[in-house]
Amino acid sequence: MIDNVFIHPPHLPLIAPSILAADFCRLGSEAADVQQKGADLLHVDVMDGHFVPNLTLGPDIVQALQRASTLMQDVHLMVGNPEDFVESFAKAGAGNLTFHIEACNGSKAIDLIKRIHDLGCTAGISLNPPTAVESLNGVMKHADMVLVMSVNPGFTGQAFMPEVLSKVRFLRHELGPHQRLEIDGGIGIRTAHEALEAGADVLVAGASIFRNPEREQTIRLLRGDYPK
Ligand code: DX5
Ligand code: ZN
Repeated sequence: MIDNVFIHPPHLPLIAPSILAADFCRLGSEAADVQQKGADLLHVDVMDGHFVPNLTLGPDIVQALQRASTLMQDVHLMVGNPEDFVESFAKAGAGNLTFHIEACNGSKAIDLIKRIHDLGCTAGISLNPPTAVESLNGVMKHADMVLVMSVNPGFTGQAFMPEVLSKVRFLRHELGPHQRLEIDGGIGIRTAHEALEAGADVLVAGASIFRNPEREQTIRLLRGDYPK
């Protein structure tokens, strides 16, 4: 059983490489490599070609990745009907399941968080750059994590949108100490620093880790662990 790093973080911030930016010919060895280089969890981007204009990974990939690394899998559901997929991803071995408030809100979102908990996973709720934080009212207190998107979701390698940092600052103030605050999109060494200062404690990074030969050093620098 893989320990859930959102409940028992070994340290903060946590670094979550996004497998979307890995070499898809070698998914297993890519996951193992980032674990060996110091990653804390593995971020898995699920896209349905409807909620976002791209198609990516399904539960079979999550199940296969379980054999390649023991990193907790943080599954980011960018799909229009997350309620139809939580069970299959939980059964495949996901540790955390995040869905979007734009896809499921109000009492339905609270029910979905409860279902995710009943499936043995932690639950995250995400919001896109144009979505106001108020959309999370009444819902976020039930979640283990809030994921602030710092790009419009769909693709790896996009530019960070600094205007979302005000949402991170606001949310850090609203969330309890045991609720994680994740940021996703365009995170590199400079933007990681800004996100950490604003209060994020889980950093998703795709291109800046997987498309970089110096992965170990990059993970350390993203975490804010600079050489003395
Ligand atoms: C974007 C995804 C991200 C993406 C991050 O839609 O949710 O997780 O893979 O990639 P980078 O860090 O390259 O922006
Ligand atoms: Zn993501």
